[in-house]
Amino acid sequence: MRRTVVLDCDPGQDDAVAILLALASPGELEVRAIMAVAGNVPLVRTVDNALRLVELAGACVPVHAGCARPLLRELVTAEHVHGETGIDGADLPHPAREPEREHAALAIVRHLSDPTAERPTLVATGPLTNVALALTLAPDLARRLDAIVLMGGAVGLGNVTPAAEFNMYVDPHAARIVFESGARIVMFPLDVTHQVLVTEERLGRIRALGTRSARAVAGMLAFYRGRGRTGGAREGPLHDPCTVAWLVDPGLFCGRAARVEVECESPLGLGRTYVDLHGTTGRPPNAEVMLQADAERFFELLVERLARLP
Ligand code: RIB
Ligand code: CA
Repeated sequence: MRRTVVLDCDPGQDDAVAILLALASPGELEVRAIMAVAGNVPLVRTVDNALRLVELAGACVPVHAGCARPLLRELVTAEHVHGETGIDGADLPHPAREPEREHAALAIVRHLSDPTAERPTLVATGPLTNVALALTLAPDLARRLDAIVLMGGAVGLGNVTPAAEFNMYVDPHAARIVFESGARIVMFPLDVTHQVLVTEERLGRIRALGTRSARAVAGMLAFYRGRGRTGGAREGPLHDPCTVAWLVDPGLFCGRAARVEVECESPLGLGRTYVDLHGTTGRPPNAEVMLQADAERFFELLVERLARLP
């Protein structure tokens, strides 16, 4: 059955590929709306980037602006990885359309509480500020959702500090609200996304498609892969599209249920996700944590879907 999807993101080159993959998969995903949150770059940029990417795909999907800063912390951005625009390398025209007036958090609740929504699914590929706000505004949403599929966290080392992955680090308090919400969570930590690397050969396959969308993606990934974070894979891990690829073909990944808790107190460990893979805490699992990826089949799917776009 098709899923009704809302995508909350902070584009970001890898978020951009997640957006395009979702919009290129109408057989599996009905993308109702795209929400922008501050993260890789400030909100004004992530909103503008989302609008440009929707137009690149030739889609007519509303874009909503969400939170311009985390719930409690000051905003930390990542222009050193993604460039000043956040999608450096894409070179896309100014968007013709404006974002919707409704706040992203309210729109998340409205779209995913809609009785016509089939298997309502929230995909989150940035800091979880909008998602936490939506779950706080409408706690019953956690029970109504089929899943929250999120990229973030790490079983092992972080990528922005030794302890924390960027999305969790930017807004650990929002992440704690989401993991404690009772919603079904499917988590893509760095341990699995670092298996999905943009090699020169894979970049060449995308570039060879020759379409406007493929050229934009190849430009973005060529820029992004050269800026791998310290501690992360140098060939540009395609973090965010793993979430959408799993919705299209769950067989691309495997993992296990585990208790996940988020560090919100320790200055050194802020944003760390404690993933209890061996059940040592005795607390019940609250997430399905993906640990293995079939990267070659992932890229076969990505190239096949990108070829559908203009
Ligand atoms: O740590 C990787 C995550 O942080 C990705 O979602 C990337 O886009 C950034 O938001
Ligand atoms: Ca992101």
